[in-house]
Amino acid sequence: MSSLAEKLSTIVGAVFAAQDLPADLGVVRVSDRPDLAQFQCNGAMAAAKVAQKNPREIANDLVARLKENGDFAKIDIAGPGFINLDITDDYLAAHLAAVAADERLGVSTLEQEQTAVLDYGGPNIAKPMHVGHLRAAIIGDSLRRIMSFAGYKTLGDVHMGDWGTHMGMIISEYIKQGRAGEIMQIDLADDMAVDGLMQDLGEIYPKVAAACKEDDARKREAQDATVKIQNKEPQYFALWQKIKEASVIGMRNNYARLKVHFDLWKGEADVHDYIAPMVDDLKARNFAVEDQGALIVPVKRNDDNKEVPPLMLYKSDGGVMYGTTDLATIVERVKLYSPAKIVYFVDQRQHLHFEQVFRASRMAGIAGESVELTHAGFGTMNGPDGKPFKTRAGGVMRLDDLMSMAIDKARQRIDEAALAQDMTDDEKEDVAHKVAVAAIKFADLQNQRHSDYIFDLDRLTSFEGKTGPYMLYQAVRIKSLLKKAEAQGDVPSAGFVLRDEDRPLALLLTEMPDAFDAALRHYMPHHICEYAYKLANTFSSFYGSCHILSEEDEALKASRLALCALTCRQLETALSWLGIDVPERM
Ligand code: ARG
Repeated sequence: MSSLAEKLSTIVGAVFAAQDLPADLGVVRVSDRPDLAQFQCNGAMAAAKVAQKNPREIANDLVARLKENGDFAKIDIAGPGFINLDITDDYLAAHLAAVAADERLGVSTLEQEQTAVLDYGGPNIAKPMHVGHLRAAIIGDSLRRIMSFAGYKTLGDVHMGDWGTHMGMIISEYIKQGRAGEIMQIDLADDMAVDGLMQDLGEIYPKVAAACKEDDARKREAQDATVKIQNKEPQYFALWQKIKEASVIGMRNNYARLKVHFDLWKGEADVHDYIAPMVDDLKARNFAVEDQGALIVPVKRNDDNKEVPPLMLYKSDGGVMYGTTDLATIVERVKLYSPAKIVYFVDQRQHLHFEQVFRASRMAGIAGESVELTHAGFGTMNGPDGKPFKTRAGGVMRLDDLMSMAIDKARQRIDEAALAQDMTDDEKEDVAHKVAVAAIKFADLQNQRHSDYIFDLDRLTSFEGKTGPYMLYQAVRIKSLLKKAEAQGDVPSAGFVLRDEDRPLALLLTEMPDAFDAALRHYMPHHICEYAYKLANTFSSFYGSCHILSEEDEALKASRLALCALTCRQLETALSWLGIDVPERM
């Protein structure tokens, strides 16, 4: 199936072709002047250029042919040659019945399954997760859901930073302090002990990092320790494993609380063994060259309009770099999963890094032509002052604390709205959690990915405005309406009955595949937010302007209940693509 606009494009495209004009100029889209028409086609102007004729004349010929088609209720020409179209209610009702009968709600699926590896984690072990990890997780997990729905086999990889010098710093410090034994004794099944270790790591790391900055000898110690970890020397490696396992427990909890899922819990360490052979191969084929003691891959091109520095594989001190690991990770992913796409949801500020890695990968044929590599970057989450989000004291906000704040606020909102009067404590907690997740995710995802946005907890937890809680509230309202009507909302056998009050909602309900496709194609979930929000608002007007439960005309009542049910399904589905769960009631 497809959206209604796509279906009309095929019809109008065929009319263009019949006039010896390019069929693809017959694209029809939803009109931006709904007061004038439901749909529009602007192709006559471009066709006029091709045919070297007057656009109005071309439009006249096209309209004459289109009028032979009985599915249009109104066709006219505006301005220089815009074709305005309305469809008949019968045609609309039939399309809508097909959408309702389709378990995929009209959204098409890949003809052949393809694998997509999605990289949207990246937290470093031994450090607490903070708000900087939020956007990658929210946007990436949404795309995982969207791409799965589209028929991809998706593999979300957390790709944690577990192999860098920060681990050398920490482990050398524990050994110096004679605390290796104590750390090894920690029971990972004991939550308190794990928390204690994470706390300790949070304190120790900034101290060692500062010491290494000031003192070259201390820095060398840390570097030596890093090499020892990477060479798997027993004491070092065992400490590394312990710290990693403890960190992963914390990470899993954080992501679970945020309802973000990963399929692969891999880290940079997992590609260690791919690095040496990859580097040897790049050297042998002359892609990698020595440069002042370092090993680099030059990636600049003649047509670059900005400086693209070489990708550095080894520093002059022999340490591997961030780019080396990312390149080796491509080697690994291609080998293990044969993906058609690898998409990185990482801060836009790392764009140059990915440009370098992708170029090196392309040049050397590490990812073949058929593998699409994309950096889907995003902007910053700012505080109400417009600067990167911080705690009140000016520090980095921990993700866990942010979640707790959001849940507290959600609970308060639920109380204010007196929504929980007959809820058990458990149900209230569950609803508060769902409201908090919806608030945080919808506030993030509604922005075009590249833009920064302001995280304002007060505003984004409100039940009014373009917020997650408002979306939940609308979905739940429809659910309870259907419950009250004791109706499933099946499409009546005589089909939808469309009056003036029903038509805007009916038309909108045919647009979902367009929003889905735009989000999928550009890795931009805001198209789905936009659609869902419009749907919630249009439903609200519909609900306010016509009788549903009290409608006396049975056929009309059944049709309206079916519109309600379809709206509810679409809202829930759209929200599920955003990683937002709707409670049964609220
Ligand atoms: N650990 C990295 C950081 O803290 C982010 C990793 C993002 N993913 C990637 N494949 N490079 O900046």
